[in-house]
Amino acid sequence: MPQRSPNLILRPTTEADLEFVIAAERHPDNRSFIGQWSQQEHVNACADPDHRHSILHAVPDQSSLQPTDNFAEPLRVGYLILQGMNDPHLNLQIRRIVVTEKGQGYGRKALQLAKQIAFEQCSIHRLWLDVKTHNPRARALYESEGFVYEGTLRECIKVGDRFESLAVLSILREEYSATR
Ligand SMILES: CC(C)(COP(=O)(O)OP(=O)(O)OC[C@H]1O[C@@H](n2cnc3c(N)ncnc32)[C@H](O)[C@@H]1OP(=O)(O)O)[C@@H](O)C(=O)NCCC(=O)NCCS
Repeated sequence: MPQRSPNLILRPTTEADLEFVIAAERHPDNRSFIGQWSQQEHVNACADPDHRHSILHAVPDQSSLQPTDNFAEPLRVGYLILQGMNDPHLNLQIRRIVVTEKGQGYGRKALQLAKQIAFEQCSIHRLWLDVKTHNPRARALYESEGFVYEGTLRECIKVGDRFESLAVLSILREEYSATR
């Protein structure tokens, strides 16, 4: 039974997580929607104070735990990269979000946590992202979480012999505050 409002925490990505991160990034369900980084690019992002590279870590509902559950097993359900923690214009980008256990509410919860980091823990003014125009599922999720469409960067990414477009969406601090 999918948990529609799951408990989710963000914790810093470590070197031990990179195999999981790269497998998720390369997975056929995800790769056409997101950028592809080398292991070194992820290592660099983890070490860079301007980035926040996090594992989405599901926290089981205590009441649903069975005696046979393996508590040592990490419940990694995706990762999230924020970029712009030190941006002088107070703009923070959701650089990448990937959920490996789809359709259980983790993506929505991760976005809500990203908004909390931006607007409650930090003094960010504008939280933004871009999404490929052939990714209506992600775009619908962003719009339902208050992100506003700003425009399209037309055919800005070359993929083989064709070009893809990116829609830019953002939410401003005052828009976030109005929903609290
Ligand atoms: C986009 C993504 C992050 C969403 O995460 P998720 O955990 O699967 O999404 P959620 O379960 O939180 O669902 C959020 C919304 O997505 C939509 N959704 C869920 N399953 C869907 C499906 N099978 N088809 C279409 N829309 C769907 C629904 O609108 C849902 O809203 P609801 O809560 O009202 O039902 C995830 O699917 C993913 O990693 N996709 C591949 C990588 C990617 O596209 N990243 C974003 C790049 S910009």
